[in-house]
Amino acid sequence: MKSIILVGGEGTRLRPLTYQTPKQMLPLVGVPMIECVLETLAKHGVTDAVLALGYLPDRFIEAYPSGVISGVNVTYVTEPEPLDTSGAIRFAATFADIKETFLVINGDVLTALNISKLIEFHHSHGAEATIALHPVEDPSRFGVVPTAPDGRVIAFVEKPPRDEAPTNLINAGTYVFEPSVLDKIASSGRVSVERDTFPALAAAGSLYAMPDDAYWIDTGTPQAFLQASVDVLEGRYAVRAVSGIADGAWIHPSATVDPSAVVTTSVVDRNCVVGANVVLDHAVLLPGAVVQVGAKVRSSIIGPSAVIGSYSVLGATCVVGANVIVAPESQLSGDVRLGGV
Ligand code: GTP
Repeated sequence: MKSIILVGGEGTRLRPLTYQTPKQMLPLVGVPMIECVLETLAKHGVTDAVLALGYLPDRFIEAYPSGVISGVNVTYVTEPEPLDTSGAIRFAATFADIKETFLVINGDVLTALNISKLIEFHHSHGAEATIALHPVEDPSRFGVVPTAPDGRVIAFVEKPPRDEAPTNLINAGTYVFEPSVLDKIASSGRVSVERDTFPALAAAGSLYAMPDDAYWIDTGTPQAFLQASVDVLEGRYAVRAVSGIADGAWIHPSATVDPSAVVTTSVVDRNCVVGANVVLDHAVLLPGAVVQVGAKVRSSIIGPSAVIGSYSVLGATCVVGANVIVAPESQLSGDVRLGGV
């Protein structure tokens, strides 16, 4: 079955990290997220995928010039302008000449969803489109999808107050589509799958949804990116390409970590330098980051080649952009973002 992976968004919630690197090329425990996503698809027998690119497309094309990612043969399709999710699906499907049932995956979602089961559900319900749903405790940040007992989608409720949500099942960003859906997407301009296409299909009664409680995370915010990293470190989400996790931490062999540093539940990527008496806890250091003597970094992401000055204390949740230098003895906490374009 042909698959379209949406990877063309700007990833604004993960800025400044996404100024230089598209979200799906950010490494999760050393492995670019797109490799994790395609590894899961490959497990379900997907051999070919179309990557719907828009923002910083060359970062993907240059990283995988052979067009093979995690064993999946990939075709690159680059939009001339941002088309939003549905516009991107239509553009990619037209380019790839898709004429049969196909899969669509948000490229920033990590999931252990049984995709084969979703496809079976889609066919057995005679659906025009089927959405995978995931239960969450607090659905107020998500698109909530109430269904009839037969699985037909009744409505789309965007970000309801917690106590008014009709269900705790949210759109999990994995879909099966019939090609007839493509004719219902405007051929130009921005069209959103959540705001435009799904509500229209739900009104027509041809949209179905299948709940599944397998592991799932949308990595689109700093907190979620950190959580996804911790989930890989602690074995809740398995990535075959990741090796060398020890005591809940992952330190790339090229990194230099002073023996007096305390590193717990953290990622220290390639060429990082961690000084004496540093404390890292639920921290992610991207390649080349430096944390100087005595600094403490908790629940924060330190961008490529950034420097955290000695005796600084960074608490939840700081995101330090590439090459940023944080002065010694800085005290930063809250939702801090440092670094521009
Ligand atoms: P935020 O700006 O932080 O909301 O992130 P985002 O731009 O990635 O948007 P969002 O998380 O809502 O997007 C869901 C998925 O669709 C992601 O995998 C995006 O890369 C992808 N996506 C969003 N907009 C577009 C687009 O215009 N074109 C393509 N090809 N993909 C898109």
